[in-house]
Amino acid sequence: MMLEKFVDPLPIMETIEPISTQKGSDYYEVTMKEVNQQLHRDLPPTTIWGYNGQFPGPTFKVKRNQTVRVLWKNDLPNKHFLPIDTTVHGAGKKQPEVRTVVHLHGGATPDTSDGYPDAWFTRGFQETGPFFAEEIYTYPNQQQATTLWYHDHAIGITRLNIYAGLAGAYIIHDEEEEAMSLPSGPYDIPLVIMDRSFHSDGSLYYPSEPDPPTPGVHPSTLSNFFGDTILVNGKVWPFLEVEPRRYRFRLINASNSRTYQLSLSNGRPFIQIGSDQGLLSAPVTVREILLAPAERADVILDFSSETREYITIRNSGPAPFPTGSAPDPDTTGVLMQFRVIKPLQSQDTSRIPSALRHVPRLKKRHAFQMRNLPLNMVHDQYGREVHLLNHQLWDDPITEMPRIGSIEVWNFINITEGSHPIHLHLVRFQVLDRQPFDKEIYQREGRVVPTGTRIKPKPNEQGWKDTVCANPWEMTRIIVPFGPFTGLYVWHCHILEHEDYEMMRPYVVIK
Ligand code: C2O
Ligand code: CU
Ligand code: CU
Repeated sequence: MMLEKFVDPLPIMETIEPISTQKGSDYYEVTMKEVNQQLHRDLPPTTIWGYNGQFPGPTFKVKRNQTVRVLWKNDLPNKHFLPIDTTVHGAGKKQPEVRTVVHLHGGATPDTSDGYPDAWFTRGFQETGPFFAEEIYTYPNQQQATTLWYHDHAIGITRLNIYAGLAGAYIIHDEEEEAMSLPSGPYDIPLVIMDRSFHSDGSLYYPSEPDPPTPGVHPSTLSNFFGDTILVNGKVWPFLEVEPRRYRFRLINASNSRTYQLSLSNGRPFIQIGSDQGLLSAPVTVREILLAPAERADVILDFSSETREYITIRNSGPAPFPTGSAPDPDTTGVLMQFRVIKPLQSQDTSRIPSALRHVPRLKKRHAFQMRNLPLNMVHDQYGREVHLLNHQLWDDPITEMPRIGSIEVWNFINITEGSHPIHLHLVRFQVLDRQPFDKEIYQREGRVVPTGTRIKPKPNEQGWKDTVCANPWEMTRIIVPFGPFTGLYVWHCHILEHEDYEMMRPYVVIK
């Protein structure tokens, strides 16, 4: 069945309100629930798991330095509706099937509130994982204005819990940004992008085995998952009616494995003003935006000279990225449509300042330590692909122990055939450069011999980031100031099928 495009309006997630304000901190409660939600006009309602029963979850809008406390409650059934592979780390038969833990992606959060994968809890906190610390999470929000997102992080089933619907947007505002007169209020809209597949009865389809199937394991995890349908804010190929004026859109790639290469159908550019960790130093005009899983792009679209135009956001990102097949221009090659048909409500007084905020460029000489971290792939006893960080398993002893306040350079040496979006919890970092190296020499002798110069990131990748795309047979170098907290965190590939199957490592920030 081919679903018709642009028949449903783009949903705008509701903004969550605090239940109370105590000692200067706002207190929220969010309950994870199984509900049915209509994801397309012609689809029967789909069973999803939503924060407060919504998919995507409600949007948090918080102010910098305003502490927020959240009680995340699990009111889900005890059975998962997606196929669990019990051979995957932490998802064994002895574990409760439905485990949840919430992580604020990109948040500088104390480790007890960071959503460590083993800090899971079941319905009503009846059972908790070995690292469970507290029921009410605290988010200090001390970081600069940016677009974060929250999502599930339970060990071994993150890919299934997020696929079921456990993700939402979390926006931090600050005074510096407010003084800029960027489009705001109803003209500032998060766009949560996900790919999904459906059975004809409307239920979510997630394969219970790869193609070809794994002998001896059922259900079996996959190396990648790509849906055949694109959803924005929980609707399949929606449309948005807009006024002829400027809008700010916060693009969030919340897909399991899919990397998007976004462009506009009328050939006009995006004006990108921010990346994962907030505003760039200056706006950048770009015709294409590459958005790997978990990455964000903050963009301005100016519809003022496009009255009566219909404009679609297109995707040309190959799946898997970068060597897979191109998306079908009729399905996964399209995200949504803008219709510039609403009358202008009032004069557009928004502006795009030529300078946004100061982003100091960190230099390699500021670093105290450098780590070479190969991204590699092996096969398990069943012949499946297992992606690893630095040749190590999730359960291997901790090897990355940066000191708080120190700056390190991490070199991701990708010796696989696919790109891996690498994410570090707690911190923000900058991309130093990427450099190709000789594949044959590496395979023969294990040596990294560059075949070209170090390539600086494009201007829209020169701001603060928390996720970086490490491409095959390249060394991607990032520079990371560690802090502001000590404690136990994780770093991992944000392709959820990789993260759940060993491409994740604990790390500790020490005193
Ligand atoms: Cu989106 Cu471990 O995070
Ligand atoms: Cu994170
Ligand atoms: Cu990966």
